[in-house]
Amino acid sequence: MPHPAATATDTAAAAAQHGAPAGVAYPKTIKSFVRRAGRTTTGQAKAFEDLGPRFILPYSPQPLDANAAFGRSAPLILEIGFGMGEATAHIARVRPDDNFLCCEVHEPGVGALLKRLGEQGQTNIRILQHDAVEVIDHMLAPGSLDGVHIFFPDPWHKKKHNKRRLIQPPLVAKLAARLKPGGYLHCATDWQPYAEQMLEVLSAEPLLANSASGYAPQPDYRPLTKFENRGLRLGHGVWDLVFLRRA
Ligand SMILES: C[S@@+](CC[C@H](N)C(=O)[O-])C[C@H]1O[C@@H](n2cnc3c(N)ncnc32)[C@H](O)[C@@H]1O
Repeated sequence: MPHPAATATDTAAAAAQHGAPAGVAYPKTIKSFVRRAGRTTTGQAKAFEDLGPRFILPYSPQPLDANAAFGRSAPLILEIGFGMGEATAHIARVRPDDNFLCCEVHEPGVGALLKRLGEQGQTNIRILQHDAVEVIDHMLAPGSLDGVHIFFPDPWHKKKHNKRRLIQPPLVAKLAARLKPGGYLHCATDWQPYAEQMLEVLSAEPLLANSASGYAPQPDYRPLTKFENRGLRLGHGVWDLVFLRRA
């Protein structure tokens, strides 16, 4: 049965994507991630124990009460796939007036972000250690977001794996529906074919308008991470895209 937060368009788009007739739930979704093995360090494990109860929200297929989850009312930004949380912690620090709801499935990454929160004392982040697509489908109501960050999503280089990429029409339509008018969707990638796919898919979404003509200048809140600096030193490009939800 579709969840209350899912729209009829979501259901039809997802069914069509998976070849099921409209209105029929498809049996298995293609995931945008694989659960990587990775060691959680002692420091990260301690951060889970000490800070997990404060910063990790349980996944529950119920619309999220963001004001209750953050203990205040503030603009809500969703981040999908924060990795080790370097950019996430920086952005939350330079934008203290926003609330950041951050999804990541990789446990050591969650531990690493918790550790940073402990060290830096930020309180405007909540973490969902869960598939962001399910969070969007089941926990986020239409018009509930002021922004979305998707930085360096897995590029799934091989053609046969391209279907796992996050930035595809059905997910973009769901994100656009959950943004408030004037809200933004900010993506960044260092893989040119994916940048081109992003530009094509985002430009084709009727609810979104490009804030730039083509790729956007890097917004000043997004830091250059260690990973990105290494790429830039090797001569790799980086492409930012910022699209706005139409009224
Ligand atoms: C290539 S990493 C980039 C991490 C980070 N944004 C950065 O810039 O360094 C992509 C991350 O997205 C996460 N991810 C992919 N699909 C996801 C999903 N559906 N829900 C939550 N996390 C996801 C992966 O676990 C991975 O850590």
